[in-house]
Amino acid sequence: MQNQRLPKKEQLSKSVHSPGSQAGHPIGIFDSGIGGLTVASAIHRLLPNERLIYFGDTAHVPYGDKSAKAIKGYSEGITEFLLDKQCKIVVIACNTASSVAFRNVQRLCSGKALTTNVIDPMVQYVSAKYRDEKIGVIGTKGTINSRIYPRKFKQKAESLQVSSAATPLLCPMIEEGFFNNTISKTIIYDYLSKNHLDDIQALILGCTHYPLIKKEVESYYKRDVEVIDSSEIVAQKVQDLLSAQSLLATKKPTAKNRFYISDYTESFEASTRLFFTGDIHLQEMNIWK
Ligand code: DGL
Repeated sequence: MQNQRLPKKEQLSKSVHSPGSQAGHPIGIFDSGIGGLTVASAIHRLLPNERLIYFGDTAHVPYGDKSAKAIKGYSEGITEFLLDKQCKIVVIACNTASSVAFRNVQRLCSGKALTTNVIDPMVQYVSAKYRDEKIGVIGTKGTINSRIYPRKFKQKAESLQVSSAATPLLCPMIEEGFFNNTISKTIIYDYLSKNHLDDIQALILGCTHYPLIKKEVESYYKRDVEVIDSSEIVAQKVQDLLSAQSLLATKKPTAKNRFYISDYTESFEASTRLFFTGDIHLQEMNIWK
């Protein structure tokens, strides 16, 4: 559990980045592309005083079909970038990276910044609410093949039945701006009807891109299935972690939120504007040189 691994308050204040309080430092968030913006915007809504630094690794999206070794390398590179920007917490806003690279990110952040993934807060939320029911999880091949959700539920809520399905077309589809249209509806309905996901009580959207298709998933289930996305649950977790270390920003930031991408795409810019209004500082940053 990430709680047991949190750097102590004293250790954080000795960070190489900050001789004084880190409360005014930014929150670092990363994903392979636009998916993590769903988490970033939930954090922004819940914690409007916080300044965000977002990194979308668009040069390598999708992560879902990459090897664990590659994803660990990408996650480490991005974490170093966010630590250089003096982030006080690094949020892995990607299920695929959370399933294989959380330890690597924690190790780099140790004594410098807090960390959270998107999976532990979700498992905590679901196991507090469901005990003997059947739930479903959809996500990338990387997340589903890692079996991280069934393994974590086995520890937390043993009698919960978990049915998982990889839905690899969904991330590239969403990244290309295909959602709320007939193509996305056909693909989503096809995946949901073929993967033993009919008799479930709740469905976890185990990819941070999927909140963008949440309405379409809900429309497939004509009965009461709770479709759960992690954005607000993770935002709450970030608030709890920062608050426990007295690291919440107390006044509006003077600097703007920053959005970095490793390869510029128009669809990323358009999606950023779906989530954040006003002046958007989007910058291509090739950290892989
Ligand atoms: N949004 C990410 C996730 O939660 C990444 C999806 C991908 O790049 O394949 O898994």
